[in-house]
Amino acid sequence: MSVTTAPGNEWKTVRFEVLEKTESLPSLSIVVSEFLVLARRDFFTAKDFETVISKDQALVARLLKVANSGLYGRSRSITTIPEAVVMIGVDNLKKIVYAVSSEGLTRQVLENYNYHPDQGFWLHSMGVGHATKVLVEASSQCPLNGEEGFVAGLLHDVGKLVIDGFLPSGSPRAITREQEKEAVGLDHGELAEYILKQWNLPLSTATTVRYHHDYQGAGEFAGGAAALALAEGVCSTWDLGRNIPMDLSQEVPKEQFSELMDFLAIDPAKWDQVIWDIRQSLVGLDEVFGDD
Ligand SMILES: [Fe+2]
Ligand SMILES: [Fe+2]
Repeated sequence: MSVTTAPGNEWKTVRFEVLEKTESLPSLSIVVSEFLVLARRDFFTAKDFETVISKDQALVARLLKVANSGLYGRSRSITTIPEAVVMIGVDNLKKIVYAVSSEGLTRQVLENYNYHPDQGFWLHSMGVGHATKVLVEASSQCPLNGEEGFVAGLLHDVGKLVIDGFLPSGSPRAITREQEKEAVGLDHGELAEYILKQWNLPLSTATTVRYHHDYQGAGEFAGGAAALALAEGVCSTWDLGRNIPMDLSQEVPKEQFSELMDFLAIDPAKWDQVIWDIRQSLVGLDEVFGDD
């Protein structure tokens, strides 16, 4: 059986089983969409943070666990959200909230896509999230803020979680968007847009994600999609998520990305600094797998 759906502006016929599988994905905490709304405000207090996050107690418990992990090595343990706010800071805590909220999705193992079986998809998702945040903040032409960039990067390949089960099974390999369309009628960007809308994420995030392989189609959000495409390109240079442990030593030649850099108005003279910032944001990521 097939049903008709409208992931974007056009209608497509999608197999019923695909939508069923989409609905069975672990859902994203409502805290994520509420934080993205708050991030658009000029002023955000620790109290606002606490009010929103306390709606999801399972998330609070997990957040405190991660806050106490080796990554944030503290001399004494953190047992409440206000303490965590003081010791880690709201910005870092929000990043942990986004990462923790999406763990049920990003920690899955894909059968057909060529990510490393040991948390490669998680590493790729987190890496592109961090890189997108840096690029969004380095660009004067991007309609997203850093937080929106991080979430878009984190969830950009979520469509693959559904499509994976409908591909002809075989060994892990590079899958083209055409092959995805043959399998389910949509590519992973289109399907991700549908999923993100179901989770009530802002249109800016859903549209950015949809067009991460075709940024010019994203209309007013083309700057966000270009930042995401550039983040993906940089992370591909390092094979992030395909190799573990990660190796960030490979040079990232700016000539290869000049079109995207122009579009984002990122000064080529600042490229080395941008790459440095991305590397800094990724250091240690592959060491936090065991912290649950
Ligand atoms: Fe990707
Ligand atoms: Fe992708």
